[in-house]
Amino acid sequence: MHDPDPAAAPRRHIRSFVRREGRLTPAQQQALATLLPRYGLPEQPSTTLDCNAIFGNRHPLLLEIGYGNGASLLAQAESNPQQNHIGLEVHRPGAGHLLQEIERRQLHNVRIAIADAASWLPQAIASASIDTVQVFFPDPWHKKRHNKRRLIQTAFVDELARIMVPAGRLMLATDWQDYAEHMLAVMTAHPGFSNAAGAGRFSPRPDCRPLTRFEQRGQRLGHDVFDLQFLRHTS
Ligand SMILES: C[S@@+](CC[C@H](N)C(=O)[O-])C[C@H]1O[C@@H](n2cnc3c(N)ncnc32)[C@H](O)[C@@H]1O
Repeated sequence: MHDPDPAAAPRRHIRSFVRREGRLTPAQQQALATLLPRYGLPEQPSTTLDCNAIFGNRHPLLLEIGYGNGASLLAQAESNPQQNHIGLEVHRPGAGHLLQEIERRQLHNVRIAIADAASWLPQAIASASIDTVQVFFPDPWHKKRHNKRRLIQTAFVDELARIMVPAGRLMLATDWQDYAEHMLAVMTAHPGFSNAAGAGRFSPRPDCRPLTRFEQRGQRLGHDVFDLQFLRHTS
């Protein structure tokens, strides 16, 4: 019998999400079929993407990870026509909804990938190419035994540091105090970033962050909301 060598086995990647497909509405299904070819980025690119060629210009790039139904990304894209926007999400109904809105609002500055950010970013995004990254209300994984599934961890922040331009801005928000404190600790300890709000402080709510469904849910639960803004070191 053949004994697999555990040292040689690839480490199983801990996912920060559970793929709950939910039900796609017929309109979302239609949007995925007809609009994803137009606004979608490859799910498994063989080389890093040439974003200037994809958007047809050299505008600054904003990346949103886990955009949900796309409320923040749409607001950003609509109010910043001189900025390009990439959205990553694994939830297909959310992607379908966003595609419908991109088309309805005739936005030319948004592209999306239905992909896990942890494996997609290293394949798809060139170093020092993203100006702004936003991660709003990432899944809190609030039970102690699930904390390891949180997206904001040192290894993931290393990857964000790689893709961001010097002085690029990382915006985070959560309504789970324990996760907010974890984010602050991880970011403060990271040598690639400095706290735009001052050492050890949470940030005021950024004007660009609209109220999303998840924030509303947090409000109903009586949760405070914590914002963080960090800048990529210039050296
Ligand atoms: C709690 S929801 C928040 C959605 C949205 N940001 C908002 O504020 O309404 C978190 C989202 O992150 C997505 N997500 C979690 N891990 C992800 C990953 N590794 N890559 C892409 N999306 C992810 C989930 O599918 C989910 O839709």
